[in-house]
Amino acid sequence: MSAVKKIAVLTSGGDSQGMNAAVRAVVRSALFRGLEVYGVQRGYQGLLNRDLRQMDLRSVGDIIQRGGTILQTARCKDFMTSEGQQRGADILRELGIDGLVVIGGDGSYQGANKLSKLGIKTMGLPGTIDNDIPFTDFTIGFDTAVSIVVDAINKLRDTMTSHERSSVVEVMGRHCGDIALYAGLASGAEAILVPEVPFDVKEISLRMKENFQKGKRHGIVVVAEGAGGGEDVSRQITEYSGIEPRVTVLGHIQRGGAPTHNDRILASRLGDYAVKRLIEGDSGKAIGIVNGEFVATDIDKVVNTKKQFNLEMYELALRLSQ
Ligand code: ADP
Ligand code: F6P
Repeated sequence: MSAVKKIAVLTSGGDSQGMNAAVRAVVRSALFRGLEVYGVQRGYQGLLNRDLRQMDLRSVGDIIQRGGTILQTARCKDFMTSEGQQRGADILRELGIDGLVVIGGDGSYQGANKLSKLGIKTMGLPGTIDNDIPFTDFTIGFDTAVSIVVDAINKLRDTMTSHERSSVVEVMGRHCGDIALYAGLASGAEAILVPEVPFDVKEISLRMKENFQKGKRHGIVVVAEGAGGGEDVSRQITEYSGIEPRVTVLGHIQRGGAPTHNDRILASRLGDYAVKRLIEGDSGKAIGIVNGEFVATDIDKVVNTKKQFNLEMYELALRLSQ
């Protein structure tokens, strides 16, 4: 016997590639197991506006390969208040919806945690390019965002090498340097600036100057937005070394386009597993995959834990790019 009969799914906060694949997985897995399933438009805002529609197999056709989210997303101030959260829980109860899957980042998880404490059976799926959610190795969208950054750095490196120039590339990640770290390692960047590790722009600038003198023909510095603006870092490099880097701010390009196969597979597996746990009567869990195994962790614990930065990988990236 299933613990839930009618569930809903929403996407919230910053979108990420693979959210559509996750919505598809939730909808089809729910239908396959005999549940009714509803899509909430525009995250918690849509919930408070009662903007829900019943989903069928065809509602999620032709979306596994698309970036963005067909359910759209929003940042909803009203839901930050306890009155808003209570209203959201009341609306779900009134509609007879007994389970909710929230696909989003840390903020969206905070909302899911509140709903769970108000008695709604809730599951969180990590949908964010930032990879800043603990208790999962990767978040949905991260792999695609890193591929986009690596592709951009490959292109920049071509022209930088021709001109013997340096490049500062600003990537997303306000509080988490994982996009910078993974893209920096994968593209051989000479310096990676992240919010988690202190850095010295003077030392980086002088090293880059010395490297040019020793025969390096380019210098790539990847800066996570949370570690400082690309323009500011570039200005400092000029000040310390006379080098005049070209600055590229990749911005929202990193959040669009077709998800990689890794993100589609991650989203499909997590979506299916979330439905399974709801059916089994579980609630208030954030779903992740750690070392290839599904992990369901209390959302409360997830939102109160900071993801560990991989210092070993960071040091490796710097060692290999000398
Ligand atoms: P993300 O999920 O990408 O981290 P946000 O931080 O913008 O994005 O959060 C998305 C939405 O989640 C917010 O607009 C708000 O509606 C809800 N939310 C965020 N923090 C909380 C909170 N502490 N309590 C309840 N809801 C929250
Ligand atoms: O959390 C995802 C993210 O893309 C961050 O990396 C970035 O700092 C932020 O969202 C940008 O937010 P907005 O879409 O509001 O510009």
